[in-house]
Amino acid sequence: MPSNWRFSLWSFLAGILAAAALIAALATMCLHDGFSARQKAGAFETALAHFALHNSVSAHQRGLANPVAPSTAVIEAARDHFADHCSSCHANNGSGHSMYGDGLNPPPPDLRLEATQSKSDGELYSIIQNGVRMSGMPAFGTSSEHDLETWKLVLFVRHLPSLTPEEERAMQQANPITPSELREQQEEDQFLQGISIQPKGSTK
Ligand code: HEC
Repeated sequence: MPSNWRFSLWSFLAGILAAAALIAALATMCLHDGFSARQKAGAFETALAHFALHNSVSAHQRGLANPVAPSTAVIEAARDHFADHCSSCHANNGSGHSMYGDGLNPPPPDLRLEATQSKSDGELYSIIQNGVRMSGMPAFGTSSEHDLETWKLVLFVRHLPSLTPEEERAMQQANPITPSELREQQEEDQFLQGISIQPKGSTK
C-alpha cells in the first residue's frame, strides 16, 4: 500500500474519531444540562446565536433606510403599538424584565443598550419583521420592505434609551389586559355610573 494512502486513511479515521468525540461531548452536555429554559446559555452557544442572527440579515436588508421621519405623533403611536404587542416580553422600558421575558431562553436583550442600538435601522427592521428562529421573538410583518408600522417600531426602539417616566406610565394604558381585568374594569365603570351588576346566571 503506498505511504500517502496510509496517511489519508489515518487522517480519515482521525476525522471520524474527532467528529464522534464532538457529538459525544454535545450529547453529554445536553443530557447533563437538559433543555431547560432555566439553564443560561454558555459563551459558545451565545456566540453561535449572535453569529447566526447577524448572518441571517442580508447586506441589502442591513442597508435599508427608514422611510418614516420621527415626529411626536409617530413616536406616540409606535409607543402604544409597542406597549400592546412587545411589552409582554420586552417590558415597557425595553429592559426585557417582564412576566414572559424573565422566563425566556434566550432572553430578550435590553433594547436600550449598545448591542441593540448599534445595529442598523435595516437590521432592526428585519428582526422585527422576520423574527428570530429558535427564540421567543415572533415575526410580526409581511415580507414587504415597506411595512410602515414596523419602520415606526424601529423609531420607537431608537427612542427607548430616552423614554421618560411619564411616557412609561402612559404605556401602561396600552398594555394588554386579561379578560378578568377587563370585567373588573367594566364593573368599576358601571358602578361609578350607578348601574348595578347582576350576578352571573341571575334572571332578575
Ligand atoms: C414572546 C416574546 C417576544 C415578543 C412578544 C417580542 N419579542 Fe422581540 N425579542 C424576543 C427575544 C427572546 C429576543 C432575542 C432573540 C435572540 O436571542 O436573538 C428578541 C429580540 C428582539 C430584537 C433584537 C434585539 C437585538 O439586539 O438583537 C428587537 C429589535 C425586538 N426583539 C423588537 C421587538 C418588537 C418591536 C416587538 C413587538 C412588535 C417584539 N420584539 C416582541 C422576544 C419577544
